[in-house]
Amino acid sequence: MTALDSAVPAGGPDTAPGPAPVVDVSGLTVVYDTAPVLDGVDLTLVPGEVVALLGHSGSGKSTLMRALTGMAPVTGGRVHVADRDVTALRGRGLRALRADVGHIFQHFHLVPRLSALANVLAGGLHAAGPASHIGLFSREQRTRALSLLDRVDLLAQARQQARTLSGGQQQRVAIARALMQDPRLILADEPVASLDPRLAGNVLGLLSDLARERGVPVLVSLHVVALARRYADRAVGLREGRVVVDIPAADVDRAAVRGIYGADTEFGTDEEERP
Ligand SMILES: Nc1ncnc2c1ncn2[C@@H]1O[C@H](COP(=O)(O)OP(=O)(O)O)[C@@H](O)[C@H]1O
Ligand SMILES: [Mg+2]
Repeated sequence: MTALDSAVPAGGPDTAPGPAPVVDVSGLTVVYDTAPVLDGVDLTLVPGEVVALLGHSGSGKSTLMRALTGMAPVTGGRVHVADRDVTALRGRGLRALRADVGHIFQHFHLVPRLSALANVLAGGLHAAGPASHIGLFSREQRTRALSLLDRVDLLAQARQQARTLSGGQQQRVAIARALMQDPRLILADEPVASLDPRLAGNVLGLLSDLARERGVPVLVSLHVVALARRYADRAVGLREGRVVVDIPAADVDRAAVRGIYGADTEFGTDEEERP
């Protein structure tokens, strides 16, 4: 990017200045081998906003998330995250960016034999990797980790081994771990795909409350349209690497769903699809 790019305000001269976006992506292209996996993607997230990423398997959702932390081969476009030009970062700059971005995964990625508390504390050691010696942490860190576990309603389970917790509880530990990083952005790649519908709603409700409370935007990929409608502010639909929908989540209707998933897609027939 050029000095001129960075001098142009994101909203242009005619729009009222809102909060500066945490994610500001335009024209993003990612090519693996020869085929573009992302093709001219535009995406912005402002503080506190929850954006649902929808699309078939293979549409590029995970690749888009990886590009935001410099983990995909970007061949074109602009990728700005947390005031950094991601494509220009190397080494220490990339590590600093990654320390500012919390990740939530489908399969939780906790250390199973460590306690919930130790897993959360590990979130504060982003650069150093998971800690196995809880005594290494300061009293302040432990107090903070406990208050985050309290926030996700797991204070009573703080000393329980992660592997003994239910799926919904493990995902709440993972959310507390991400918050321990004090992230500028949370990327949640299919965070509820392994949970039953009630727990899925519980986890997404928690994520959206936290986004608002802390002003941290959340980009969350989902397979259930009804969950996007209920818990996200905005829905972005990817189809074959292109953004085909970018609208308020409440406006996702039959036409939007067909635009994202194809003309033969049913809308609202599945129990889980119902808003
Ligand atoms: N490391 C890689 N090398 C080659 N192709 C990849 C790689 N990662 C993803 N792809 C391809 O990119 C496309 C999008 O994948 P992905 O971003 O994982 O989609 P989604 O998360 O929406 O299921 C798929 O066709 C996938 O095969
Ligand atoms: Mg994926």
